[in-house]
Amino acid sequence: MKGVVLAGGTGSRLFPLTKITNKHLLPVYDKPMIYYPIRTLVDAGIRDILIVTGGRNAGDFLRLLANGKEFGLSHIDYTYQEGEGGIADALNLAHHFADGGKICVILGDNIIERSIRQAADDFRRQERGAKILLKEVPDAERFGVAEVDGGRVVNIEEKPRRPKSNYAVTGIYMYDGTVFDKIKDLVPSGRGELEITDVNNAYIREGTMTFSFLEGWWTDAGTFDSLLRASNLVAQTEGGAPRSGEA
Ligand code: DAU
Repeated sequence: MKGVVLAGGTGSRLFPLTKITNKHLLPVYDKPMIYYPIRTLVDAGIRDILIVTGGRNAGDFLRLLANGKEFGLSHIDYTYQEGEGGIADALNLAHHFADGGKICVILGDNIIERSIRQAADDFRRQERGAKILLKEVPDAERFGVAEVDGGRVVNIEEKPRRPKSNYAVTGIYMYDGTVFDKIKDLVPSGRGELEITDVNNAYIREGTMTFSFLEGWWTDAGTFDSLLRASNLVAQTEGGAPRSGEA
């Protein structure tokens, strides 16, 4: 299974921090934000990684990451998202890279404590469809929210005013090769974006969506509060100790 890190968008919720750099290059404790999702993929046994970036600082990713030696990789692929058409629009740029196979997609601002290895291995064995990772949170209205019934996800609502559960859909998604057909059928949402939640609901309607719960803490880092929380969580968990991914 290949991996895709989505690191496009303008990061407007973090202005003026993102006026002169890309959100995913900002520090989270002692590392640039993008290190964490890359490490999540590498720890799940993924060696082929595509980074989708955008904006005015795309070249900085290449300077920072080069071929991924720090993560034990011999090569990283890069592509560029024009504008900010949404998460599914950014993912569509991975069509050639995926080459019909399974992919594990992670949002560039999602930081987790533990490994997703088990879920990735389960999805490697899953015949077809998709898999999402859920996390119980106190502020579900900030996220895609999964309605679970009888051991299945029956619907996902994007940032609902009145969430039907406390289960946030984390920014880690596993898809089979049909994801790009599903993206083709999408129409932009009210906020003018191609929504990943619509992709996931297409799999749910098809009856091929599975899920598991993410262990350990999870946070995004796309707002001032969550960026600070991410740094604090990493500092508390790792306390500056050397990690895999460090040369
Ligand atoms: O963090 C998990 C949540 O991420 C999910 O629960 C939601 O269902 C999902 O829609 C998403 O919500 P956000 O509104 O917080 O996503 P945001 O617009 O902040 O984008 C998250 C990352 O996706 C961002 O760090 C980079 C990537 N992205 C986003 C957009 C809009 C792109 O690469 N291109 C884009 O055009």
